[in-house]
Amino acid sequence: MKKAKIIVDKRESIAPIDNRIYGSFIEHLGRAVYTGIYQPGHPTANEKGFRQDVIDLVRQLRVPIIRYPGGNFVSGYRWEDGVGPVAKRPKRLELAWGVIEPNEIGVNEFSDWLKEVGSEMMMAVNLGTRGMEAAQDLLEYCNHPSGTYFSDLRIQHGYKEPHHIKTWCLGNEMDGPWQIGHKTAEEYGRLACETGKVMKWVDPTIELVACGSSHKDMPTFGTWEETVLNHCYEQVDYISLHQYYGYENSAHDTQSFLSKGFEMDQFIKNVVSICDSVKAKKKGKKDIHLSFDEWNVWYHSHEQDRKIERWTFAPHQLEDIYFFEDAILVGSMLISLIKNADRVKIACLAQLVNVIAPIMTEKDGTAWCQTIYYPYMHASLYGRGIALNTEIQSPKYSCVQFSDIDHIDSVAVYNEEKSEVSIFAVNRHLEEDVEVEIDLRSFDNLSIIEEILYENHDIKATNSANISQNIIPKKVNKAKIENGKIITVMPKVSWNVIRLKIN
Ligand code: AHR
Repeated sequence: MKKAKIIVDKRESIAPIDNRIYGSFIEHLGRAVYTGIYQPGHPTANEKGFRQDVIDLVRQLRVPIIRYPGGNFVSGYRWEDGVGPVAKRPKRLELAWGVIEPNEIGVNEFSDWLKEVGSEMMMAVNLGTRGMEAAQDLLEYCNHPSGTYFSDLRIQHGYKEPHHIKTWCLGNEMDGPWQIGHKTAEEYGRLACETGKVMKWVDPTIELVACGSSHKDMPTFGTWEETVLNHCYEQVDYISLHQYYGYENSAHDTQSFLSKGFEMDQFIKNVVSICDSVKAKKKGKKDIHLSFDEWNVWYHSHEQDRKIERWTFAPHQLEDIYFFEDAILVGSMLISLIKNADRVKIACLAQLVNVIAPIMTEKDGTAWCQTIYYPYMHASLYGRGIALNTEIQSPKYSCVQFSDIDHIDSVAVYNEEKSEVSIFAVNRHLEEDVEVEIDLRSFDNLSIIEEILYENHDIKATNSANISQNIIPKKVNKAKIENGKIITVMPKVSWNVIRLKIN
């Protein structure tokens, strides 16, 4: 059997993890909102029309922050349409996704839902069709206590307490030609600077995210980040990264697909270099941190989405049904995010319900968990604390897109308060199990709390609403402690979590 070694040392700390890296995203898109989180009349709907079955599954994930209301949607959004008496709200042509938006849910209702799921809002402003003034008004409506036009309007709408939204995105993917109101880096950089300036005048406690590139292969990647930050370095706190992975560019080569976490890692490091170079040129004092506010696997639904009729309401859009192997890539991507905890402070699995999502709903039936739900849940529940660097000695492979990749990838998280260490690891080998020795040299008296294994003989298998047939992780007892080292076997194509107590 192939062998690998992971060395974990508490002196090798990367950084305390900002819990917001386990964030997610709800956009007014497809059935994320309507028949996703909100469906009056559904058997589980509460008095506000929110589906309790969905609330329960979101709560289990302990999602700390949820980005809203888009995405591409936000670039044509008039936030005022979504507040006040529901019966008076306009139905609009929603240009980003070619559907009808009824505006039954807006910022107030979404904040009610967030209370149910125990999460906070990350709000995006429209810098596509709108600009500084609408952003300023929305912020005043959401965060100003009272005594001004928009704060009093909120109170009149039944929300006496401000929403206290701390994190704000200055638009969405403004570098993309598909974006409503697409801009050049110069145009966007100036707008982000001025909008950020007035927003921080309205509420100096907020934090701002500037748009980075829509993905790492955008032709303007790099120069976009540099130009934008040249304009708004002083005003913003984060720059965004977006990246979805699929098979279309890799000739159905599974080994390359499963290696994309490595590519994500490189992408993060490249953006960090640009942020630091702008800081150096400006003789700046602060680091610009990273908000990886859209990441996931996305490709299964591309074909069927081309057939969607325009101007329908809540169509089945971007409803990827995930394979088991997608969960392994999601696990690898989570490992990359944790490994970069010194600079990635926010990350959003895009998205949360029905739209490229870990949670799916049947309109007249049940809510169920896709394969990708599980690694995301494990990282969110057990990945809080200090990220520790792991030294990995693993057999390597080369594939169509990459060379010298470790079959075993891993990261550790030390939770000092709970005296626990969690090891997250993937085995990307397509054929072989690997025996792994974990050397936790600086931790004494360890015992195993639990070992969780997610594996499946068919890597193309999916979950469905028929939950009794679904692939779910299991607790195993394979790991042994021998001379202070943990020895276990990580099966081929698997996600592994080992939770340890420091006694
Ligand atoms: O998450 C789906 C879409 O992907 C978002 O609306 C957009 O920002 C990105 O291109």
